[in-house]
Amino acid sequence: MSKSTDSVAISGEGGLDALEASAEKLNESIDSQVRKQEKILSVLDSSFNVFEDSSAADLVHSSPNSGERFQRWFRYREGFSPELIDRAVRQLDIETVSILDPFSGAGSTLVAAHQAGIPSIGFEVNPIVSIVARAKTHNYSTADIESIRRVLRQVQMAAPGQPMAKRPALGILDKVFRTDVLNALLTIRQIIDEVPAGNVNDFLMTGWLSTLEGVSNVFKEGNGIKYRNRKRTSNGYTTIPWEQVPGFEIEGWGLVKSRLASQFHAMLEDVEPDVQLASPVVHEVSSVTGIDGVKDQSISLAIFSPPYCNNFNYMKIFKVELWMSGLVETYADVRAIGERALRSHVEMPIVVPEARTLPSELYALVEQIDPTKLWNSKIPKTIFAYFLDMRELLAGVYRTLSDGGECHIVIGNSAYGGVVIPTDVLLAKIAVELGFGVDRVAVARHLTTSSQQRRAMEPLVGYLRESIVVLKKERNA
Ligand SMILES: C[S@@+](CC[C@H](N)C(=O)[O-])C[C@H]1O[C@@H](n2cnc3c(N)ncnc32)[C@H](O)[C@@H]1O
Repeated sequence: MSKSTDSVAISGEGGLDALEASAEKLNESIDSQVRKQEKILSVLDSSFNVFEDSSAADLVHSSPNSGERFQRWFRYREGFSPELIDRAVRQLDIETVSILDPFSGAGSTLVAAHQAGIPSIGFEVNPIVSIVARAKTHNYSTADIESIRRVLRQVQMAAPGQPMAKRPALGILDKVFRTDVLNALLTIRQIIDEVPAGNVNDFLMTGWLSTLEGVSNVFKEGNGIKYRNRKRTSNGYTTIPWEQVPGFEIEGWGLVKSRLASQFHAMLEDVEPDVQLASPVVHEVSSVTGIDGVKDQSISLAIFSPPYCNNFNYMKIFKVELWMSGLVETYADVRAIGERALRSHVEMPIVVPEARTLPSELYALVEQIDPTKLWNSKIPKTIFAYFLDMRELLAGVYRTLSDGGECHIVIGNSAYGGVVIPTDVLLAKIAVELGFGVDRVAVARHLTTSSQQRRAMEPLVGYLRESIVVLKKERNA
């Protein structure tokens, strides 16, 4: 018998009335909290040109499985479609002489700029996806392609007993890779490591990195990684033997070589050798501070999707790639890379000033979050830190844009403890304070929440959306 039924039975009819009365009160207070929120959200929305734009729904995400040119070089769920950039360039009033993506990830913006022959600048703190972005945007010569094919022949001939790259110190390594798979991967990485830094090395590393997840015992899901050989049964979790994990029936060397062969085959199909186009410059530092190095008024279009204010830790999901590549050797290295990122999750060190310098609506909304409903008490501070970082970044973007230049931000809203954080219009409001004009907030699609959250927030779910915020630096601003 549950506790609440117990108390009803003991207190009899009068108790039931009291319980109903208090449930009603609770509903009233939830209703009034929801109404308060709705008011703030609708007033914010009414300050801008917010509208539904279903034609943008397919532009705000990438389709890694679509086999699309370059997108298939590396599976990066957080990317967006290059068509988004092409469309923005076509619609821009001024000539697009340079493009900036301060969160360039695996390079959707940079690839589109490269293909259009437009110089571009990227910032990305995750070294794994920076390699991928560079590889996708190099100009490969016929000699580069010959070198790549030569190394790939060595890869196919690699055998047990050859020198291997140093074994990573990642604690869970033996759970992530079967021993024969791990040995094959480290032997092949040793072959790639001997290729000097540059086009050929970036291309080979990208193909190798792209293959890791598929030959491992883990896969990325949500905000973390999950084991393939762990299955839930009625008695809890159980580990199934490697041979029974789909795709792992063959021995490790054969598995790794066949996956690498098909990956590199696809990548080589996408390369057009001896074409000379402006290649992007990718800075592996935080854009929040790194943007200071970009010249005033030198950018025509800034287009990007920053981390959302949703506690997603981009470094955590890449831990296997970071360790296996040799780019991190200690847990302190992992932390140091993670701390360069925008403060969008609670695993970051967060200190925020007392002064209330962000839009008042944000403080009003955060005050409505019931702290007992939060899974981590740092969430409110993290939300403020996120907007402070984004304001600093947007101030930099404003300075670097030329007159008539535009800034397009693909962004999703989020919810904490039943309270919506409308990041799209809050960023628009901050942008206005920095001098931008807001052209539009085009709602591309609506997000889903857990069914429990959904019930609690029913009247507010429409605000859980992914939008493209288009800002303009007016001429002669
Ligand atoms: C939504 S993803 C962008 C994906 C990208 N548009 C693409 O198509 O691949 C956000 C990216 O921002 C990066 N990031 C987070 N904080 C950063 C910072 N302070 N400076 C530069 N990049 C950062 C993350 O590592 C992540 O790759």
